[in-house]
This record gives sequence, structure tokens and C-alpha cells, in this order.
Amino acid sequence: MTRETMAPLTKRLSLPFQSHSLLLTLLPCLILLLLPSRSLSSHPSPGSPSPVVSRIAFGSCAKQSSPQPIWDAILDFHPDLFVWMGDNIYGDNKRPFRIFGEQRTIGPWKNVDRFFPSSQEELKRRYELAKNKPGYAELSQRTKVIGTWDDHDYGLNDAGKEFAGKDVSQKLLMDFLDEPEDSPRRKQAGVYASYVYGPEGKQIKVIVLDTRYHRDPIFSDGTFLGDAQWEWLEKELKGPKTELTIIVSSVQVISNLSATGYPLLFTECWGNFPKERERLFKLINDSKRSGVFFISGDVHFGEIARYDCGSLYPIYDITSSGLTRSLEEDSTPAVAFLIRAIFQIVPSTMRVFSANCRHKSCIYARPNFGAIEVNWDVSPPRVKIELRDVNGSSVNEVSFLLSELQAREVSGTGECESGYQQHCTLERESSWLLRKRLTLILWVVVTGILRRIFS
Ligand SMILES: *[C@@H]1O[C@H](CO)[C@@H](O)[C@H](O)[C@H]1NC(C)=O
Ligand SMILES: *[C@@H]1O[C@H](CO)[C@@H](O)[C@H](O)[C@H]1NC(C)=O
Ligand SMILES: *[C@@H]1O[C@H](CO)[C@@H](O)[C@H](O)[C@H]1NC(C)=O
Repeated sequence: MTRETMAPLTKRLSLPFQSHSLLLTLLPCLILLLLPSRSLSSHPSPGSPSPVVSRIAFGSCAKQSSPQPIWDAILDFHPDLFVWMGDNIYGDNKRPFRIFGEQRTIGPWKNVDRFFPSSQEELKRRYELAKNKPGYAELSQRTKVIGTWDDHDYGLNDAGKEFAGKDVSQKLLMDFLDEPEDSPRRKQAGVYASYVYGPEGKQIKVIVLDTRYHRDPIFSDGTFLGDAQWEWLEKELKGPKTELTIIVSSVQVISNLSATGYPLLFTECWGNFPKERERLFKLINDSKRSGVFFISGDVHFGEIARYDCGSLYPIYDITSSGLTRSLEEDSTPAVAFLIRAIFQIVPSTMRVFSANCRHKSCIYARPNFGAIEVNWDVSPPRVKIELRDVNGSSVNEVSFLLSELQAREVSGTGECESGYQQHCTLERESSWLLRKRLTLILWVVVTGILRRIFS
């Protein structure tokens, strides 16, 4: 989940980045203006030919009570597989944003939590709504559907291992995904799983992580996946090779918007657990597995990022969020305009820019889904990954040859020796001026307003 904070004025006022959220970030200005003046794998059984998988769609953040017209565009893509990236339903509840009154949800004086969980019956009802959405119902008839959860379908905004309702939530997600009654995935702690699709020579492995069930609190610097899941992941990565390996993480792996967007923007991501993130890259590197990339959701916008110094080849993270929930869709036109402006000035060292993006920032904050196409008929095979809008038009894309994602030993020693080093500087390592750009602009705006008021 994404949050935003207004640290300069209050101590650490963090808000869920939901509807009207950016409006809230402008609140300081508005207030001033108002002053006087375990292991589970499905491998194709040997002998039975497994059909080629060449089109995979993925998406996140689908509000069950909203219209979901985007399914038509997803159906038109004719995916062989659909992956739910989390926030598949919004299972928790939000109290209104209130600074004053009986239920104060914000500020150091707040007396209730902004979010609270639903009963089991209510969660069930919401899952049923989601499952019966016309477009989705048709897709799930036609296409294999797999997936994971994020915080809102897990049961509570930004929740981790401490959440008491997690086993109930796990059963309900398993029901939603039609996981067989006798599946070991229903009995393990957490919803992680892995799948292999396609015949020999055209195999795609999909590793679905659980980033909630075992996760320590956000600022604890603790564990992200928990011991059992880490052990399982290592086995999965070191196991039989496949041409492609897609790792599904509900939250962003590579982009770390908090480092440059703070105090306005805060995202829940692997970046908040630097040691765990390093462990993840090291594991991929040590496994010498080729063809690995990430897909993610959660943040209410689409982005393509790439990290060139975590392994022996560039690692991509393609974020699609959301199917219905998106920053601009949830805002007034004026706030949507501001969001676009802010994304243009928040620097990013990991984002992949391309001329094909709909917006210059290469962030797309309206409803979108991810569309992966593998052309197995050319040699080497080519992978194209797009973010597509509600009408199915591309808003951002990246493509690469499978041969570019090969874990070859590089000559020479040390990191970043193989010549692909455009995306190596972590956001937190970029210059002070770059990291503080947004804060400085905000400061200039606020002091400008103050001077107008008091001069
Ligand atoms: C992400 O940003 C936060 C906030 O600046 C920082 O503490 C953390 O170390 C960063 N993570 C990485 C992997 O750079
Ligand atoms: C990846 O592994 C190779 C050895 O296979 C090593 O030389 C290199 O330093 C490692 N890179 C990272 C980023 O850990
Ligand atoms: C989708 O198409 C409709 C009808 O042509 C158009 O009005 C709408 O703006 C389009 N949506 C996007 C996000 O491009």
C-alpha cells in the first residue's frame, strides 16, 4: 500500500494513499491559506505435453463494488494465464478522514485507526461480488487464473504477520482462486506457490510470493518472507531451469519512491527492507538462473523499473496497478493534474523511460493491466511487456530478447562489469539535491504563500 506523509508540519502523519489523498498532501498549504490572512509446485507431468503459454495478463487493486470495465480489454488480449497481484478485493473498511470530532483518524491526536477489518461473512460476500463480475467471470471460465494477495484482501491496510484474521483470509482467497480442497497450499502458512507452464524449451515458471503472512512491521528492518518461505524460494530458484521465471510480488521490488518522494509519497515496498531486498537479489544471482523478472502491483499506478547491478543481467519489475483503483481515477481533475506534475518532478533512478509512454513521466495513474507476450517463434525468443489502459491501448512497454537475461559469468570481477549499467544507482544514493527536490519545491511553495499572507 502506498501512504503519504506530511512530516514537516505534524510529527509523522501518515495517510493511506487512497482517494483524495493528494489533496491531503496539499492540506498544509490550504490550512496556511485559511490563516487570518511450503513447497507447492505444479509441474507438468512428464509425458503429457503441456500447451505453449505465450500470453500472460496480470492486474491488481480491483474494488469489488466498482464497475470493472477493464475485463473486456483483458479478454480481448486472449491471455493463456491471468495473475492476480493482490488487493483483488478491498476487504477492509476505511473511516473518514477526520482531524476533529469524536472519531479522529489522523494526526498525533487521533483516537481510532483509519482502517478496520471486516467479519468473515462480509469478506465472503465481497469475494462473491468480485467473482461474479461479468468480465471476470468470463475470463475465469476461459483462462487459468492464479495469484496472491496484498494488504486489503489479506484483511487490513499495511498489515503483516501480526494480523489475527490471516488464516480465515487464506481460506477465502483459496476459495476465490478455486484451489482444490485437498491442495497443500490450503494447509501451509501463507499463500506462496509456484507453477511451470509450457513444453520443454518453452517453459515459464511463475513463482508467487506471499508478502504479508510472515512480514515483520514496516520499519522493523525484520523479515519480509519468513524463514520457511525463503527456504522454499531458494529451492524454487535453484530447481530445474526454465526459459523464463516470473516472480510475483504484490509490492514493488525495484522502485523505491519513498527515497525521493518523501515526505509527500511513501510506498510499502521491498526498499523498506534493504537487507531482505539484497538477500533476494543475491539469491537470484547465486542461483545462476536466467530469465528472471518481477511483476508487482499495489501502488495505484503503472511503472516499469529495472535494476542492473543486483545480478548478472538486468532485472525488470513491471508494476500494474490498478484494475479499478488508480491515483488519478480516484481524484478530481485538478488533483489528477497535480499528481501528473509531481510524478514528473520526483526523480527515479530505476524507472525505464521510453518514447512509447503515454505520459512523459512514464507513470500511468489510470486503470491499467499488464500484458506479457512471448514470441517463441523467433530465435532467440522475444518478450514484450506492456501496460494497457481500460481500452486495451498500450501506455508503456518494454521488450527484450531472452538472450539478454542470461546468467553468464562476466569476465572481470565485481559488480556492474558487463556494460549494462544505466540503472545501478539506488535512489537513496543519488545526490541530496535530487532526493530533496520535491521537499524543496514544497518548501518554496509554502514559504511563498506565507510571504504573500504576511507581507
Ligand atoms: C528506500 O528508501 C528508504 C527511505 O529513504 C531508505 O531508508 C531505504 O534504505 C531505501 N531502500 C533501498 C533498497 O535503497
Ligand atoms: C553475482 O555472482 C557473481 C558470481 O557468479 C559475482 O561475481 C558477482 O559479484 C555477483 N553479483 C552480485 C551483485 O552479487
Ligand atoms: C477509452 O475509449 C473511450 C471511447 O473511445 C474514450 O472516451 C476514453 O477516453 C478512452 N479511455 C482512455 C483511458 O483512453
